[in-house]
Amino acid sequence: MTSESVQPMSGPSRRAVVAAAGAAGLTVALTACGSDDKASDPSTEQGGGATNEGGGSSAGAGAGGAALAKTADIPEGSGKIFKDEKVVVSQPAAGDYKAFSTICTHQNCPMVDLKDDIISCACHGSQFSVLDGSVKKGPAVKPLEAKKVTVNGDSITLA
Ligand code: FES
Repeated sequence: MTSESVQPMSGPSRRAVVAAAGAAGLTVALTACGSDDKASDPSTEQGGGATNEGGGSSAGAGAGGAALAKTADIPEGSGKIFKDEKVVVSQPAAGDYKAFSTICTHQNCPMVDLKDDIISCACHGSQFSVLDGSVKKGPAVKPLEAKKVTVNGDSITLA
């Protein structure tokens, strides 16, 4: 049963092999037989491939430091909070990304409330623009600490 279900898949390659065998001769035909035999356990290879794929994507994320977000995740004219990193990434203009600390400059409360381009502090009500970090409402008087981000293709990395 297993070899029967495999055969339709190897059918086209066999045909290709027959065509190739005409040109390249017996060596190609032998190689094809070898790969036909292996075709009976492709599930093992696929499992390995899936694992590699997972590793590959995390390796890609780690390649340029910790990738924080995709550019598509950051709405233009607003931003997105990354709680773990205590950072908010914003896009003041198309393709222009900025990042600021989400720690309130009043008394260091972490802020998690973002509406449009304003991030608000739940402790005493300070508000800041996530587009430039400026104070929109006190009691805070100091702007948000700017963070550096690097855009690589479609991924945003915290520098
Ligand atoms: S700590 Fe944010 S307003 Fe006081």
